[in-house]
Amino acid sequence: MKIVKTIDEIRNIIKEWRKEGYSVGLVPTMGYLHEGHGSLIEQSVKNNDKTVVSVFVNPTQFGPNEDLEKYPRDIERDSKLVERIGGDIIFNPEASEMYSSAGFTTIKVEGLSEKLCGITRPTHFAGVCQVVSKLFNIVTPDNAYFGLKDFQQYVIIKTMVDDLNFPVKINPVEIVREESGLAMSSRNVYLTYDERKSALSLSIALKTAKSLISNREYNSSKIISEMKQIINNYPYTKIDYIKIVNTTTLNDIDYIENEKYAVLLAVYVGKTRLIDNYVCE
Ligand code: PAF
Repeated sequence: MKIVKTIDEIRNIIKEWRKEGYSVGLVPTMGYLHEGHGSLIEQSVKNNDKTVVSVFVNPTQFGPNEDLEKYPRDIERDSKLVERIGGDIIFNPEASEMYSSAGFTTIKVEGLSEKLCGITRPTHFAGVCQVVSKLFNIVTPDNAYFGLKDFQQYVIIKTMVDDLNFPVKINPVEIVREESGLAMSSRNVYLTYDERKSALSLSIALKTAKSLISNREYNSSKIISEMKQIINNYPYTKIDYIKIVNTTTLNDIDYIENEKYAVLLAVYVGKTRLIDNYVCE
């Protein structure tokens, strides 16, 4: 397993791989890898001859008052995880390498980027689309793997790839949870002991939604109001949003009938903003 820092070097390696006829999988990450990333890497290793894991804390997807500076970083720990699972390369460029040109070009997936997380993070998805399309152009993967915890991100990237005909297959990978039910996230490291207990309210509220729906409660506002009650009962929590949406348009669903739906939520626990979801397709 090798760590590559420059675009030229990764391009040369991929050129050699292509000469051998190897297929390439890409797992884009911001590092501080956990078992959730591990399951993305596993899928890639299983389904491609070669796997590149990018580790890059992308500045363009952070807002002015967000956690860019304090976002956790540990490339040695990341290398061990990638090596253990069988990834071939970590692509770990500096920001100056990724953004060496003037950077006038952004990509906006209209209609999907402004809602849900886009309300509190208005520039976030333009930054995600920018860096992901750069990575696609640099690595030219056959397959790319994205976790379903960031369901809105997955839908936006899938839509961008379809709209702009990127020659890559987007593979969604299920959320990995700790035994407690907490969805794995690099940002969980910010949580204090007590906040961690409160963070369980997200998965508990989602479980409740699932059971209400399976007991034929299809009225979204009733489901959401039960979820709010659960989360508000825990200290340190502040709900950003809880929504039930169509899985393609991300438009609100008032009444769940035969639609494919996702129950999505974002909640501050202390200062940490956590997201989680339950998707039914
Ligand atoms: O999901 C993430 O970790 C990031 O948004 C991504 C896709 C690696 C782009 O920086």
